[in-house]
Amino acid sequence: MLSAASAPHPPLKAGSRTEVDVAVVGGGVAGLSVAWELARAGRRVAVLESDRIAAGVTGHTTGKVSALHGLVYSHLRERQGADDARRYASSQQQAIEHLAAVAGELDVDCELERIPAYTFVESEHHAEDIRAEAEAAREAGLPASLVTETGLPFPVHSAVRVEDQAQFHPRKYLLALAEDLLRRGGLIHERTRVIGLDEGDPCRVTTENGAEVLAGDVVVATHYPVFDRALMFSRLQPRRELVVSALVPAASDPGGAYLTPERGTRSVRTAPYPFGKGRRLLIVTGEKFTPGTSGQGSVGAGYERLAAWTYERFPDARLVHRWATQDNDTTDGVPYIGSFHPAAQHTWVATGFGGWGMSGGVLAGQLLTAYITGATLPPWAGLYEPRRLSPREAPAVLRFQSTVAGRFVGDRLRSSYADSVEEIAPGTGAIVRVRGRRSAVHRTPEGEVRALSPRCTHLGCFVRFNDAEGAWECPCHGSRFDTEGRVIQGPATRPLERRDDVT
Ligand SMILES: Cc1cc2nc3c(=O)[nH]c(=O)nc-3n(C[C@H](O)[C@H](O)[C@H](O)COP(=O)(O)OP(=O)(O)OC[C@H]3O[C@@H](n4cnc5c(N)ncnc54)[C@H](O)[C@@H]3O)c2cc1C
Ligand code: FES
Repeated sequence: MLSAASAPHPPLKAGSRTEVDVAVVGGGVAGLSVAWELARAGRRVAVLESDRIAAGVTGHTTGKVSALHGLVYSHLRERQGADDARRYASSQQQAIEHLAAVAGELDVDCELERIPAYTFVESEHHAEDIRAEAEAAREAGLPASLVTETGLPFPVHSAVRVEDQAQFHPRKYLLALAEDLLRRGGLIHERTRVIGLDEGDPCRVTTENGAEVLAGDVVVATHYPVFDRALMFSRLQPRRELVVSALVPAASDPGGAYLTPERGTRSVRTAPYPFGKGRRLLIVTGEKFTPGTSGQGSVGAGYERLAAWTYERFPDARLVHRWATQDNDTTDGVPYIGSFHPAAQHTWVATGFGGWGMSGGVLAGQLLTAYITGATLPPWAGLYEPRRLSPREAPAVLRFQSTVAGRFVGDRLRSSYADSVEEIAPGTGAIVRVRGRRSAVHRTPEGEVRALSPRCTHLGCFVRFNDAEGAWECPCHGSRFDTEGRVIQGPATRPLERRDDVT
C-alpha cells in the first residue's frame, strides 16, 4: 500500500568514501525519525537504505499512532510493576504529541486524525482481561475508561477506550521528514545495502558495492538488526501478519482505532479514501504467523479467514487490496532502543516494536538523538535499554532459542519436502534433493524452474516457500528472499546462491 510517491535518492557511489557525524542504516520510521531529529540538532547525517525509504515494514503498516497496545499495561504492571507501566504510557503518549507537533511544524498533510483507541472483546471469555487493562491503563496515567459501547457496527462485550490517540499516513509524514532532512544538509542514499560495520573512532560502515561511510556514530535501524552485537538474535522473534483493505460508506466509519486479542488478534481502523467522496478505506489485520512456517496454502487460507471476518462484521465492505508485513517481538514486549551492546560507545539500535513502531519509531528518534547529542535523557529512557535482561526474561529467551535451534536442526534432518522437481506445481516452491544436495526450487506460474541454495545467508537455516506471497522465508529470524534469491527483508544481507544444475 505504497500510496504516496517519492522522488528517488541516489545510491552511494561504488568505491566512494563519505564522512558524516552520524550514519543511519535503514530508512523506515525509526531510521528517518532519528536522522531528522539529529539533523535538527545540527548533526550531519547520512541515511543508507538498501531499497527505498519508507517502503519496508513502515510502508505496509496500518498507521495507528496509539499508546494503547492491546493488553500491554496489565502485562507490564504484573511483570515489571506499576512504575514501568507508567513510564511506558508517558513515553508513548508524548511520542503521539511529538509526531503531531512535528507534522504541524513542517506543515505536512499526513492525514493526521485524532481518534480514540479501543481494545475490545466480543465474548465474555476475555472480559476480565479488558477490565484489568482499563484499570492498569488508567493507573499508568492514560485517559482510559471501561465501556460497553463503541463505534463498531457490531456488539462488543466490553472495551478499554483511551482518548486522544491518532492515525495518519506514515509515508506522507516520513517523506516530508526526508525532504526537510535534505534541506538541513543531510544525505539520503537509496539502493545502498550496508554489509559491514567496524566500530571505532570513527566507525566504518561498508556497503555491498564497496563504498564506505566514516561516522562518529552509527544507528542500526534495519528493522531486524543486520548485525548481532548483543545476542539480539536470541531475544527478537519475527511475526508476519496479513492485512486486507476494503471500501466502506463513510457512514460505516467506526471512528476509532480498534484491536481485539480474540482470534489471535484483529485490528481495525479506517483511512480517508482520496478517489471517491462518501467512502473510507477500512483496514483490517490479523492471522499472525512466524515467517517461513506457513504450510502450503495456509497463507491463502489466512487471507480468506480475515476477509470472512471483515464481511461478517462490515457487510457493506468491498475488499480492494491485501498484503502482508512483519514486525519483531521482544522477550518482554518493550522495544530495544539505545546502545547496541554492553561495550558500545558509538553504535545504537532501535528494534522490536512488536506491532507498534509508529509511536515507537518517533520515540526512538527522540531517545537516540538525546543519547548521541548528550542531551538530558527522558525519565523513561531506561525502560527501553537494549542491554536489559531481567531474570523474568530468561524463560522467553530460552524458548525463542530452542525454537530457532529446532528449526535449524530439524530442517536438516527432515527429508526433502518434494520428491522431485516435476512434483512442484506452477506458482509454488519446495526443497528438493537433486543429485545428492538440497535446492530451493520454485516453478513460475508460466512453468519455468528457478533453483537456489536453500541455506539462508544469515546464519544458515533452511528457507521455505510462502506461495501466497511468492517468496522464500527463513523461519529462524525472518529473512525473506524473492524467487531470484534477492533479499527482500533482513537480517540477511546477501542473496541466496543461484543453482543451475537442477533441471
Ligand atoms: C500488519 C502490521 C500492522 C502494523 N500496524 C501498525 C500500526 O497501526 N501502528 C503502529 O504503531 N505500528 C504498526 N505496525 C508496526 C510498525 O509497522 C513497525 O514497527 C515499524 O514500521 C518498523 O519500522 P522500522 O523503521 O523498524 O522498520 P522498516 O520500516 O522495515 O525500516 C527498516 C529499513 O531498513 C532497510 N534495511 C534493511 N537491511 C538493510 C541494510 N543491510 N542496509 C541498509 N538498509 C537496510 C529496509 O529496507 C527498511 O527500509 C504494524 C506491523 C504489522 C506487521
Ligand atoms: S534469518 Fe537468521 S538464519 Fe535465516
